[in-house]
Amino acid sequence: MHAIKKLFQYMKPYTLFILLGPLFMCVEVIMDLLQPTFMQKMIDVGIANHDNGYVIKLGLIMLLSAVIGLIGGMGSSVYAAKAAAHISTDVRRDVFRKTERFSNQNVDSFGTGKLITILTNDITTLQQAVIMTLRIFVRGPLLFIGSIVIVWLTARQLFPILLISIPILAAFIYFFSVKSGKLFGKVQQAMDQVNTKLQEMLAGIRVIKAFNRHDYEKKRFKTVNDLLTKRNMTAEQLILTLMPVMMFVVNLGIIAGLWLGVIKINEGTLQVGVILAFINYLNIMMNGLISSSHVLMQIARAFPSANRIVHVLETNIAITDPVQPRTHHTIHGEVTFNQVNFSYSKNGEHVLKDITFHAKAGDVIGIIGSTGSGKSTLLKLIPRLYDPDSGEVLLDGVNMKALSMEQIRSAIGFVPQKATLFSGTIQDNLRFGKDLATIEEMDVAAQAAAASEFIDRFEQRYEHQLTQGATNLSGGQKQRLSIARAFVKQPSILILDDSTSAIDALSELAVQRALKKDFTDTTVFIVSSKISSIIHADQILVMEDGQLEAKGTHEELLRHSKAYQKIYHSQAGKEVEAYG
Ligand SMILES: Nc1ncnc2c1ncn2[C@@H]1O[C@H](COP(=O)(O)OP(=O)(O)O)[C@@H](O)[C@H]1O
Ligand SMILES: [Mg+2]
Repeated sequence: MHAIKKLFQYMKPYTLFILLGPLFMCVEVIMDLLQPTFMQKMIDVGIANHDNGYVIKLGLIMLLSAVIGLIGGMGSSVYAAKAAAHISTDVRRDVFRKTERFSNQNVDSFGTGKLITILTNDITTLQQAVIMTLRIFVRGPLLFIGSIVIVWLTARQLFPILLISIPILAAFIYFFSVKSGKLFGKVQQAMDQVNTKLQEMLAGIRVIKAFNRHDYEKKRFKTVNDLLTKRNMTAEQLILTLMPVMMFVVNLGIIAGLWLGVIKINEGTLQVGVILAFINYLNIMMNGLISSSHVLMQIARAFPSANRIVHVLETNIAITDPVQPRTHHTIHGEVTFNQVNFSYSKNGEHVLKDITFHAKAGDVIGIIGSTGSGKSTLLKLIPRLYDPDSGEVLLDGVNMKALSMEQIRSAIGFVPQKATLFSGTIQDNLRFGKDLATIEEMDVAAQAAAASEFIDRFEQRYEHQLTQGATNLSGGQKQRLSIARAFVKQPSILILDDSTSAIDALSELAVQRALKKDFTDTTVFIVSSKISSIIHADQILVMEDGQLEAKGTHEELLRHSKAYQKIYHSQAGKEVEAYG
């Protein structure tokens, strides 16, 4: 209910459409309801008395009312569709804006798959429900009630038939609605499974091919797809049997009407036309009932969607700007971790435990440790992608939470472990961190990231188009471009998360040199599995199982850190020295 109240706000701007839709529908319903009565008059007055003029007059009136009904029906469709389209556009816009502001914690808790379903499927379901409500929700009950009233007024002798057939019809509809509601719930579940499987397969298509797992995946897909087909068929069959059952009940009503009608005609208390009109009203009534039940089901299906949409809209953003951010004009790049603990989920195990270190502005900090030891997680706290559970992260001596996100992030160049580039030109990607970067600035950055070498080989150089996910670049090229993008920004803090893992030794050397030469004032964090990449760092952090096993320079660690010695020896010390 709360969700509906919240979504009602979206209807306010379109009140006019929302009123016009049902209003036009009323016109159509009234015209539909009048037709059988006109026909009855035509038969009982016109034809019975051989009054040709009356017959023609009523024929024209019927034609006119059909046209008015048509206009009513079209108007109602147009306004209902308009209202629904506007409302869903607004909802989609707000859901999108909200998710855009989501912190990583928020995205983790929803999952991207679910967010996409909400933005597409759920909003479409809502849109459909609005259209149905504005049109059929008015039409069904009006037709139903209208025809009962007219039968009461014009064919009271036949009214007892309604008293018997309506409860029977209603009972059938109730039974079918409850049953099909459950079945459609199951169809929805199966649909979710098919979608999930499909997304996974599309994302992993190359791996599937490389591992020759086509048949296996096909079988797995067939299982979920078959389930969907089966459930869909069961649900559809149920819906399809409803109609004949209803028709049967209505036909019984018609027979009863004819039988009772003939008796009354013989008694001289009823006219032939009334019986024909009654049969028509019986059909209209049934249709009214069926369509009302359809709308109710559609609305019932929209409830879970509405709830999910409102859940997104009302999610508290986990990381927000302080009310009054401290204004720091230039961030120098001093970073301090003070007894930081962090876990990804509220009750989960700590991924970072009691991390304390200090990086002076301009320092190079190397981070080394086995996979899963928390290196990437530590780096993610620096641009405040996550907040620590306890302890604090300071930037230039100020708690991050007191600074504006804009300020923190504009000072940081981040090269994630997995290079993420966007479709568009190379230039679009390089300017991602600095909108107005000149060609010269891009040249310098590309040179430093050893990316010029391949960019220059493209005919259009910076104008070269990248596909979605930059699939037209190699892994190493993507990494170098991702490094160049961070370089262009000329940040006070540069974060390289194992960013040189996919590039060749020569390119890596070039990047190392550039870091030393061009980024002397920049605080650089380098995660690497290779000691050669961090051997000259001012400070090396050795991570083990979420903890800081040791910190110090290469020489100090060789003397004191067991973990570091182990890594060092495993990488054949001599070669490492030669590299540096
Ligand atoms: N988004 C996430 N949600 C939950 N757990 C995560 C997430 N990212 C990483 N982890 C977990 O946190 C631990 C540390 O991961 P990470 O910092 O990526 O390690 P490293 O970079 O040292 O390989 C791992 O156990 C990993 O499974
Ligand atoms: Mg990592």
